[in-house]
Amino acid sequence: MKICCIGAGYVGGPTMAMIAKQCPEIPVHVVDMNQERIDAWNSDRLPIYEPGLDEIVREARGRNLTFSTQVDQAIAEADMIFISVNTPTKTFGMGAGRAANLEFIEKCARQIARNAKGHKIVVEKSTLPVRTAEAVKRILSSECSGATFDVLSNPEFLAEGTAIEDLLNPDRVLIGGESEAAINALSDVYANWIGRERILTTNLWSSELSKLTANAFLAQRVSSINAISALCEATGADVDEVARAIGTDSRIGPKFLKSSVGFGGSCFQKDILNLVYLCEHFGLDQVAAYWEQVVTMNDHQKTRFSERIVKTMFNTVSNKKLAIWGFAFKKDTNDTRESAAIYICRDLLRERAQLTIYDPKVPEATIRRDLLAACTDMHGHVNADDQALIENNVTVVNDCYEASRDAHAIAVLTEWDEFKEVDFQKIYASMHRPSFLFDGRNLLDHPKLLECGFEIHAIGKSPEQRSNN
Ligand SMILES: NC(=O)c1ccc[n+]([C@@H]2O[C@H](COP(=O)([O-])OP(=O)(O)OC[C@H]3O[C@@H](n4cnc5c(N)ncnc54)[C@H](O)[C@@H]3O)[C@@H](O)[C@H]2O)c1
Repeated sequence: MKICCIGAGYVGGPTMAMIAKQCPEIPVHVVDMNQERIDAWNSDRLPIYEPGLDEIVREARGRNLTFSTQVDQAIAEADMIFISVNTPTKTFGMGAGRAANLEFIEKCARQIARNAKGHKIVVEKSTLPVRTAEAVKRILSSECSGATFDVLSNPEFLAEGTAIEDLLNPDRVLIGGESEAAINALSDVYANWIGRERILTTNLWSSELSKLTANAFLAQRVSSINAISALCEATGADVDEVARAIGTDSRIGPKFLKSSVGFGGSCFQKDILNLVYLCEHFGLDQVAAYWEQVVTMNDHQKTRFSERIVKTMFNTVSNKKLAIWGFAFKKDTNDTRESAAIYICRDLLRERAQLTIYDPKVPEATIRRDLLAACTDMHGHVNADDQALIENNVTVVNDCYEASRDAHAIAVLTEWDEFKEVDFQKIYASMHRPSFLFDGRNLLDHPKLLECGFEIHAIGKSPEQRSNN
């Protein structure tokens, strides 16, 4: 058995590293058309930050884990081919802003068909709209030079930041397919470290839909608690107390009830919009509207936060230095895709704030690229004002202290653990008065910060509630 994986991103890289670690007898070849990414996978500075990943790659790389750009050769040699390429939201044409862009999937399928000989098991690891496997099968059979294929759906449920733990000990592995032999072959790979009882098998379409549904349900919980956070701020209830009270109900459970500036990441919004598009396609307009509201609520949460900053700071942040702590979409990842920080920073820049941004893992080039992208219109243009603001009003620095010196306010946008450990007396001493702290993750010890002298504004906590502390 030889495995190849097309796509060396946040899913392909860690997933294949785990398979290679747990199945030392199976050669695993990860390929990507992005030479820079492959060079990074072959270096000591991996292209993605994920706790525990370095050790696993170091153990398996060169033994049974290889990375290259030799896509054709890898396809020809493999018995099982995982497709882990990106499936972003379409930005053009039919379904723009909602449907998944499947051009990378189609290219992969055609490339597999051209280079395959004998029998191959093709595994959809990417998140795909329901019935994509059917399209993949048609492409494989129409382009192919005599090879035969089984197509399986095996969506990935890992979360960035905890990917290694999720891969090591998943709640379940889902395999959808029609061929029992192919399902067994893939189950045997996972059974090297995962109990058979946690390997669920379904038909292809249930498996594809389950991934979209799982992300929609998770995102819905976040939007639900965020909706309640707005009501808490208005009424004096405390969202963390409400979350604890409802989370101890075993029917509800405690996970995904942390209120914040809004969810981010490459998947939740994309997958819900994809679900919305599918529902509309099948004429289920009410169902589509129901799920779309999860995304609308998330956008509202981000806007609400930047508006609250401006209103609190005497209705103007123009030329005021604001320290931004955190830019990644969550802690323990360098991924910034759809990070709430991007949109909050953009809105604050448009209010003419001077932003000093610090994130432990996100490089300056990524921050500037993301802000430019957030200011780019449908035709690919960035207006001159926005461009000038990103150039002149953004400084990226190396720690929280530098970010906060001479600042009027701090906004915590990612829940990095190191933010809890800083010397707040020192930070407070270096800031203007009043020293505002907007905790977008309810991460910090608010009573302690109040004692230091900060004026705290946190998600789902009203000023009235604060004065009761
Ligand atoms: N990121 C997550 O947390 C996560 C979790 C579960 C599922 N997913 C799904 O997994 C898929 C991949 O996500 P990701 O975050 O790893 O994306 P990514 O953008 O990090 O990686 C995709 C990689 O595929 C490569 N690629 C695209 N077309 C190619 C081709 N034809 N040949 C060779 N390489 C090609 C790109 O260069 C890129 O490096 C998506 O469908 C996503 O929805 C992501």
